[in-house]
Amino acid sequence: MLFTPYTKGDLTLSNRIVMAPMTRCRADHRDAIPNDLMVEYYRQRASAGLILSEGTPVSDRARGYINTPSLWNEAQAEGWKKVTDAVHAAGGRIFVQLWHCGRVSNAVLHADGSPPAAPSAKAAATKTFIPGPDGTPIQADCGAPAAMTTAEAGNVAVEFGNAARLARLAGFDGAEIHGANGYLLDQFRCPFLNDRTDKYGGSLENRYRMLLEVVDAVAAELGPERVCVRQSPRGAANDMQPDPDPLGTYTWIARELDKRRIGFLHIYDQSATWVHDPADDLLPALRQTYGGALMVCGGFKREKGEAVLARGADLVAIGKLFISNPDLVARLKTNVDLNPWDATTFYAGGTRGYTDYPCASE
Ligand SMILES: Cc1cc2nc3c(=O)[nH]c(=O)nc-3n(C[C@H](O)[C@H](O)[C@H](O)COP(=O)(O)O)c2cc1C
Repeated sequence: MLFTPYTKGDLTLSNRIVMAPMTRCRADHRDAIPNDLMVEYYRQRASAGLILSEGTPVSDRARGYINTPSLWNEAQAEGWKKVTDAVHAAGGRIFVQLWHCGRVSNAVLHADGSPPAAPSAKAAATKTFIPGPDGTPIQADCGAPAAMTTAEAGNVAVEFGNAARLARLAGFDGAEIHGANGYLLDQFRCPFLNDRTDKYGGSLENRYRMLLEVVDAVAAELGPERVCVRQSPRGAANDMQPDPDPLGTYTWIARELDKRRIGFLHIYDQSATWVHDPADDLLPALRQTYGGALMVCGGFKREKGEAVLARGADLVAIGKLFISNPDLVARLKTNVDLNPWDATTFYAGGTRGYTDYPCASE
Protein backbone atom coordinates (compact mmCIF):
# COMPACT_ATOMS: atom_id res chain seq x y z
CA MET A 1 0.00 0.00 0.00
CA LEU A 2 2.74 2.49 0.94
CA PHE A 3 4.09 2.49 -2.60
CA THR A 4 0.80 2.74 -4.48
CA PRO A 5 -0.58 6.08 -5.71
CA TYR A 6 -3.14 7.99 -3.68
CA THR A 7 -5.77 10.21 -5.26
CA LYS A 8 -7.70 12.91 -3.45
CA GLY A 9 -10.00 14.92 -5.71
CA ASP A 10 -7.86 16.24 -8.55
CA LEU A 11 -4.58 15.65 -6.72
CA THR A 12 -2.69 12.39 -7.26
CA LEU A 13 0.31 11.47 -5.12
CA SER A 14 2.70 8.88 -6.59
CA ASN A 15 2.90 7.03 -3.26
CA ARG A 16 1.58 7.32 0.32
CA ILE A 17 4.80 8.42 1.94
CA VAL A 18 4.85 12.10 2.91
CA MET A 19 7.89 14.11 3.91
CA ALA A 20 6.96 15.59 7.29
CA PRO A 21 7.37 19.35 7.83
CA MET A 22 10.83 20.16 9.19
CA THR A 23 12.32 23.51 10.08
CA ARG A 24 15.87 23.75 8.71
CA CYS A 25 16.77 27.44 9.15
CA ARG A 26 18.63 27.89 5.84
CA ALA A 27 17.16 31.27 4.76
CA ASP A 28 18.52 34.73 5.65
CA HIS A 29 16.56 36.19 8.55
CA ARG A 30 16.52 39.71 7.07
CA ASP A 31 14.35 38.91 4.06
CA ALA A 32 13.31 35.28 4.84
CA ILE A 33 13.31 34.50 1.11
CA PRO A 34 13.81 30.83 0.08
CA ASN A 35 17.17 30.45 -1.71
CA ASP A 36 18.87 28.17 -4.23
CA LEU A 37 20.20 25.86 -1.52
CA MET A 38 16.63 25.21 -0.39
CA VAL A 39 15.60 24.57 -4.01
CA GLU A 40 18.22 21.82 -4.18
CA TYR A 41 17.20 20.30 -0.82
CA TYR A 42 13.54 19.98 -1.76
CA ARG A 43 14.33 18.84 -5.34
CA GLN A 44 16.40 15.97 -3.90
CA ARG A 45 13.38 14.78 -1.90
CA ALA A 46 10.72 15.09 -4.64
CA SER A 47 10.12 11.32 -4.83
CA ALA A 48 8.03 11.62 -1.66
CA GLY A 49 4.35 11.24 -2.54
CA LEU A 50 3.92 14.68 -0.98
CA ILE A 51 6.37 17.11 0.62
CA LEU A 52 5.18 19.24 3.50
CA SER A 53 7.50 22.24 3.63
CA GLU A 54 9.21 23.40 6.77
CA GLY A 55 7.13 25.60 9.08
CA THR A 56 6.70 28.90 7.23
CA PRO A 57 5.79 31.99 9.26
CA VAL A 58 2.84 33.98 7.94
CA SER A 59 4.03 37.35 9.31
CA ASP A 60 7.07 38.89 10.96
CA ARG A 61 5.54 38.48 14.41
CA ALA A 62 4.71 34.85 13.62
CA ARG A 63 8.42 34.09 13.56
CA GLY A 64 9.91 32.13 16.44
CA TYR A 65 13.34 31.05 15.19
CA ILE A 66 16.15 32.66 13.20
CA ASN A 67 16.44 32.12 9.44
CA THR A 68 13.07 30.47 8.76
CA PRO A 69 11.92 31.05 5.16
CA SER A 70 8.57 32.84 5.31
CA LEU A 71 5.53 33.76 3.27
CA TRP A 72 4.03 37.17 3.88
CA ASN A 73 5.23 39.08 0.79
CA GLU A 74 5.63 38.57 -2.95
CA ALA A 75 9.43 38.38 -2.90
CA GLN A 76 9.13 35.40 -0.56
CA ALA A 77 6.47 33.85 -2.83
CA GLU A 78 8.86 34.24 -5.79
CA GLY A 79 11.56 32.42 -3.84
CA TRP A 80 9.16 29.59 -3.01
CA LYS A 81 8.11 29.42 -6.70
CA LYS A 82 11.63 28.22 -7.53
CA VAL A 83 11.20 25.46 -4.92
CA THR A 84 7.79 24.34 -6.17
CA ASP A 85 8.94 24.47 -9.83
CA ALA A 86 11.90 22.20 -9.01
CA VAL A 87 9.72 19.73 -7.07
CA HIS A 88 7.11 19.64 -9.83
CA ALA A 89 9.77 19.20 -12.54
CA ALA A 90 11.00 16.16 -10.61
CA GLY A 91 7.46 14.73 -10.49
CA GLY A 92 6.67 15.65 -6.87
CA ARG A 93 3.93 17.50 -5.02
CA ILE A 94 4.41 20.07 -2.27
CA PHE A 95 2.26 21.83 0.34
CA VAL A 96 3.54 24.76 2.38
CA GLN A 97 3.23 24.46 6.16
CA LEU A 98 1.83 27.79 7.41
CA TRP A 99 3.01 28.67 10.90
CA HIS A 100 2.59 31.14 13.72
CA CYS A 101 4.98 30.40 16.59
CA GLY A 102 3.13 32.50 19.16
CA ARG A 103 4.90 32.43 22.54
CA VAL A 104 7.68 30.15 21.28
CA SER A 105 9.68 33.14 20.16
CA ASN A 106 11.78 36.07 21.27
CA ALA A 107 11.35 39.81 20.67
CA VAL A 108 14.75 40.04 18.93
CA LEU A 109 13.37 37.92 16.08
CA HIS A 110 10.74 40.55 15.24
CA ALA A 111 11.63 43.61 13.15
CA ASP A 112 9.78 45.96 15.50
CA GLY A 113 11.00 44.21 18.67
CA SER A 114 7.46 43.27 19.68
CA PRO A 115 7.14 40.54 22.33
CA PRO A 116 5.98 37.05 21.38
CA ALA A 117 2.20 36.84 20.91
CA ALA A 118 0.22 34.41 23.07
CA PRO A 119 -3.29 33.65 24.28
CA SER A 120 -2.26 34.67 27.81
CA ALA A 121 0.96 36.15 29.23
CA LYS A 122 2.52 32.81 30.19
CA ALA A 123 6.11 32.29 29.10
CA ALA A 124 7.23 29.09 27.38
CA ALA A 125 9.97 27.32 29.32
CA THR A 126 11.73 26.22 26.17
CA LYS A 127 14.54 27.38 23.91
CA THR A 128 14.69 29.02 20.51
CA PHE A 129 17.47 30.18 18.20
CA ILE A 130 18.24 33.89 17.86
CA PRO A 131 21.06 35.82 16.13
CA GLY A 132 24.31 35.84 18.12
CA PRO A 133 26.66 38.85 18.26
CA ASP A 134 28.10 38.03 14.80
CA GLY A 135 24.70 37.07 13.37
CA THR A 136 25.19 33.30 13.63
CA PRO A 137 22.43 31.40 15.47
CA ILE A 138 22.69 30.89 19.22
CA GLN A 139 20.26 29.15 21.56
CA ALA A 140 18.24 31.43 23.83
CA ASP A 141 15.23 31.33 26.14
CA CYS A 142 11.86 32.28 24.72
CA GLY A 143 10.86 35.82 25.68
CA ALA A 144 8.04 36.97 27.93
CA PRO A 145 4.91 36.98 25.75
CA ALA A 146 2.05 39.48 25.60
CA ALA A 147 -1.58 38.32 25.56
CA MET A 148 -3.11 39.16 22.19
CA THR A 149 -6.00 41.58 22.09
CA THR A 150 -9.24 40.24 20.65
CA ALA A 151 -8.56 42.25 17.48
CA GLU A 152 -5.03 40.82 17.19
CA ALA A 153 -6.41 37.31 17.67
CA GLY A 154 -8.96 37.93 14.92
CA ASN A 155 -6.22 39.17 12.59
CA VAL A 156 -4.35 35.86 12.69
CA ALA A 157 -6.81 34.39 10.15
CA VAL A 158 -6.19 37.40 7.90
CA GLU A 159 -2.45 36.69 7.99
CA PHE A 160 -2.95 33.00 7.19
CA GLY A 161 -5.36 33.94 4.38
CA ASN A 162 -2.77 36.27 2.89
CA ALA A 163 -0.12 33.56 3.10
CA ALA A 164 -2.48 31.09 1.41
CA ARG A 165 -3.05 33.59 -1.42
CA LEU A 166 0.73 33.88 -1.80
CA ALA A 167 1.04 30.08 -1.64
CA ARG A 168 -1.13 29.89 -4.74
CA LEU A 169 1.14 32.42 -6.52
CA ALA A 170 4.14 30.40 -5.39
CA GLY A 171 2.76 27.28 -7.06
CA PHE A 172 2.16 25.17 -3.97
CA ASP A 173 -0.29 22.28 -4.41
CA GLY A 174 -1.91 23.13 -1.08
CA ALA A 175 -1.20 24.24 2.47
CA GLU A 176 -0.88 22.59 5.84
CA ILE A 177 -1.94 24.69 8.82
CA HIS A 178 0.40 24.08 11.75
CA GLY A 179 -2.02 23.50 14.61
CA ALA A 180 0.35 21.25 16.59
CA ASN A 181 3.45 21.11 18.79
CA GLY A 182 2.75 24.00 21.14
CA TYR A 183 2.72 26.86 18.63
CA LEU A 184 0.12 29.63 18.54
CA LEU A 185 -2.95 27.70 17.34
CA ASP A 186 -2.17 24.86 19.75
CA GLN A 187 -1.58 27.38 22.57
CA PHE A 188 -5.09 28.78 22.08
CA ARG A 189 -6.51 25.24 22.18
CA CYS A 190 -4.71 24.40 25.42
CA PRO A 191 -6.86 24.87 28.54
CA PHE A 192 -3.74 25.37 30.68
CA LEU A 193 -2.32 28.21 28.59
CA ASN A 194 -5.48 29.98 27.52
CA ASP A 195 -7.04 32.01 30.37
CA ARG A 196 -8.99 34.32 28.11
CA THR A 197 -12.50 35.48 28.83
CA ASP A 198 -13.26 36.73 25.28
CA LYS A 199 -14.58 34.63 22.40
CA TYR A 200 -11.15 32.97 22.01
CA GLY A 201 -11.10 31.42 25.50
CA GLY A 202 -13.16 29.18 27.76
CA SER A 203 -15.13 26.44 25.98
CA LEU A 204 -13.52 24.01 23.54
CA GLU A 205 -15.39 25.77 20.75
CA ASN A 206 -13.90 29.12 21.80
CA ARG A 207 -10.38 27.73 22.20
CA TYR A 208 -10.60 26.24 18.70
CA ARG A 209 -12.16 29.41 17.23
CA MET A 210 -8.82 30.77 16.01
CA LEU A 211 -7.86 27.52 14.27
CA LEU A 212 -11.23 27.26 12.53
CA GLU A 213 -11.10 30.92 11.44
CA VAL A 214 -7.67 30.17 9.98
CA VAL A 215 -8.98 27.01 8.28
CA ASP A 216 -11.82 28.97 6.69
CA ALA A 217 -9.48 31.74 5.50
CA VAL A 218 -7.01 29.30 3.95
CA ALA A 219 -9.78 27.17 2.42
CA ALA A 220 -11.28 30.31 0.83
CA GLU A 221 -7.99 30.80 -1.05
CA LEU A 222 -7.04 27.23 -1.94
CA GLY A 223 -10.28 25.25 -1.77
CA PRO A 224 -10.99 23.04 1.26
CA GLU A 225 -9.72 19.88 -0.43
CA ARG A 226 -6.19 21.36 -0.68
CA VAL A 227 -6.01 22.20 3.02
CA CYS A 228 -4.33 20.03 5.66
CA VAL A 229 -4.51 20.60 9.42
CA ARG A 230 -1.81 19.27 11.75
CA GLN A 231 -2.62 18.29 15.34
CA SER A 232 -0.59 16.60 18.10
CA PRO A 233 -3.13 15.06 20.51
CA ARG A 234 -0.74 13.88 23.20
CA GLY A 235 2.19 16.15 22.52
CA ALA A 236 4.15 17.88 25.26
CA ALA A 237 6.60 19.72 23.00
CA ASN A 238 7.41 23.34 23.71
CA ASP A 239 6.37 23.30 27.36
CA MET A 240 2.85 22.01 26.71
CA GLN A 241 0.83 19.72 28.92
CA PRO A 242 -1.06 16.88 27.27
CA ASP A 243 -4.74 17.59 26.64
CA PRO A 244 -6.93 16.32 29.53
CA ASP A 245 -9.37 14.67 27.09
CA PRO A 246 -7.58 13.79 23.84
CA LEU A 247 -10.40 11.61 22.51
CA GLY A 248 -13.10 14.23 23.10
CA THR A 249 -11.00 17.17 21.93
CA TYR A 250 -9.61 15.64 18.77
CA THR A 251 -12.77 13.96 17.59
CA TRP A 252 -14.49 17.34 18.07
CA ILE A 253 -12.02 19.10 15.77
CA ALA A 254 -12.00 16.17 13.32
CA ARG A 255 -15.78 16.51 13.04
CA GLU A 256 -15.52 20.27 12.40
CA LEU A 257 -12.93 19.70 9.68
CA ASP A 258 -15.06 16.96 8.17
CA LYS A 259 -18.08 19.29 8.05
CA ARG A 260 -15.95 21.77 6.11
CA ARG A 261 -14.69 19.06 3.71
CA ILE A 262 -11.09 19.79 4.64
CA GLY A 263 -8.92 17.48 2.55
CA PHE A 264 -6.27 16.29 5.01
CA LEU A 265 -5.95 15.77 8.76
CA HIS A 266 -2.39 15.14 9.94
CA ILE A 267 -1.87 13.59 13.36
CA TYR A 268 1.55 13.59 14.97
CA ASP A 269 1.60 11.17 17.89
CA GLN A 270 4.71 9.59 19.35
CA SER A 271 2.74 7.24 21.61
CA ALA A 272 3.84 3.67 20.92
CA THR A 273 0.30 2.32 21.40
CA TRP A 274 -1.18 4.53 18.69
CA VAL A 275 -0.56 2.22 15.79
CA HIS A 276 -1.13 -1.31 17.01
CA ASP A 277 -2.81 -1.46 20.42
CA PRO A 278 -6.57 -2.04 20.11
CA ALA A 279 -6.95 -0.47 23.59
CA ASP A 280 -5.78 2.85 22.14
CA ASP A 281 -8.95 4.09 20.51
CA LEU A 282 -7.74 7.43 19.11
CA LEU A 283 -6.93 6.27 15.59
CA PRO A 284 -10.19 4.35 14.99
CA ALA A 285 -12.19 7.21 16.53
CA LEU A 286 -10.58 9.74 14.21
CA ARG A 287 -11.08 7.43 11.25
CA GLN A 288 -14.75 7.11 12.10
CA THR A 289 -15.21 10.86 12.48
CA TYR A 290 -13.18 12.19 9.58
CA GLY A 291 -13.77 11.27 5.93
CA GLY A 292 -10.80 13.09 4.33
CA ALA A 293 -7.23 11.87 4.00
CA LEU A 294 -5.95 10.84 7.42
CA MET A 295 -2.17 11.26 7.69
CA VAL A 296 -0.14 9.99 10.61
CA CYS A 297 3.40 10.75 11.76
CA GLY A 298 5.85 9.72 14.46
CA GLY A 299 8.60 7.09 14.18
CA PHE A 300 7.37 5.38 11.01
CA LYS A 301 9.34 3.12 8.72
CA ARG A 302 8.09 0.52 6.24
CA GLU A 303 6.55 -2.13 8.50
CA LYS A 304 4.84 0.22 10.93
CA GLY A 305 3.72 2.36 7.96
CA GLU A 306 2.01 -0.62 6.28
CA ALA A 307 0.41 -1.55 9.62
CA VAL A 308 -1.11 1.89 10.14
CA LEU A 309 -2.49 1.99 6.59
CA ALA A 310 -4.14 -1.35 7.34
CA ARG A 311 -5.71 0.25 10.45
CA GLY A 312 -7.37 2.96 8.38
CA ALA A 313 -4.82 5.74 7.84
CA ASP A 314 -4.34 6.98 4.27
CA LEU A 315 -0.87 8.54 4.35
CA VAL A 316 2.28 8.15 6.44
CA ALA A 317 4.51 11.14 7.10
CA ILE A 318 8.18 10.58 7.92
CA GLY A 319 10.49 13.23 9.29
CA LYS A 320 14.10 12.67 10.34
CA LEU A 321 14.74 9.79 7.93
CA PHE A 322 13.87 12.14 5.04
CA ILE A 323 16.56 14.53 6.24
CA SER A 324 19.24 11.86 5.95
CA ASN A 325 17.78 9.89 3.01
CA PRO A 326 16.74 12.05 0.04
CA ASP A 327 15.74 8.83 -1.77
CA LEU A 328 13.84 7.46 1.23
CA VAL A 329 10.93 6.05 -0.80
CA ALA A 330 13.22 3.98 -3.04
CA ARG A 331 15.25 2.82 -0.04
CA LEU A 332 12.16 1.66 1.86
CA LYS A 333 10.80 -0.05 -1.22
CA THR A 334 13.98 -2.02 -1.88
CA ASN A 335 14.94 -2.48 1.79
CA VAL A 336 18.25 -0.67 1.36
CA ASP A 337 20.04 0.45 4.56
CA LEU A 338 19.16 3.94 5.73
CA ASN A 339 21.66 6.76 6.40
CA PRO A 340 21.52 7.91 10.05
CA TRP A 341 20.70 11.57 10.65
CA ASP A 342 23.03 14.05 12.30
CA ALA A 343 20.99 16.14 14.72
CA THR A 344 23.79 18.69 15.16
CA THR A 345 23.17 19.93 11.61
CA PHE A 346 19.36 20.18 11.79
CA TYR A 347 19.33 23.96 12.25
CA ALA A 348 23.00 24.79 11.66
CA GLY A 349 22.86 26.48 8.27
CA GLY A 350 24.92 25.58 5.21
CA THR A 351 25.07 22.48 3.06
CA ARG A 352 26.43 20.04 5.66
CA GLY A 353 23.69 17.70 6.86
CA TYR A 354 21.33 19.41 4.42
CA THR A 355 22.06 18.71 0.75
CA ASP A 356 25.03 16.36 1.14
CA TYR A 357 23.33 13.10 2.24
CA PRO A 358 23.94 10.49 -0.49
CA CYS A 359 21.32 8.50 -2.37
CA ALA A 360 21.77 4.72 -2.30
CA SER A 361 22.78 4.75 -5.97
CA GLU A 362 25.67 7.19 -5.37
C1 LIG B 1 14.72 19.13 12.54
C2 LIG B 1 13.24 19.03 12.77
C3 LIG B 1 12.42 20.11 12.49
C4 LIG B 1 11.03 20.01 12.66
N1 LIG B 1 10.26 21.08 12.30
C5 LIG B 1 8.92 20.95 12.29
C6 LIG B 1 8.10 21.97 11.73
O1 LIG B 1 8.59 22.99 11.20
N2 LIG B 1 6.77 21.77 11.76
C7 LIG B 1 6.20 20.66 12.32
O2 LIG B 1 4.98 20.54 12.32
N3 LIG B 1 6.95 19.68 12.83
C8 LIG B 1 8.29 19.77 12.80
N4 LIG B 1 9.06 18.73 13.24
C9 LIG B 1 8.43 17.45 13.64
C10 LIG B 1 8.38 16.48 12.44
O3 LIG B 1 7.47 16.95 11.47
C11 LIG B 1 7.93 15.06 12.87
O4 LIG B 1 6.66 15.16 13.44
C12 LIG B 1 8.89 14.40 13.86
O5 LIG B 1 10.22 14.47 13.39
C13 LIG B 1 8.49 12.93 14.11
O6 LIG B 1 8.55 12.19 12.94
P1 LIG B 1 9.79 11.15 12.69
O7 LIG B 1 9.79 10.22 13.86
O8 LIG B 1 9.45 10.46 11.40
O9 LIG B 1 11.04 11.99 12.60
C14 LIG B 1 10.46 18.82 13.12
C15 LIG B 1 11.29 17.74 13.43
C16 LIG B 1 12.65 17.81 13.24
C17 LIG B 1 13.51 16.61 13.52
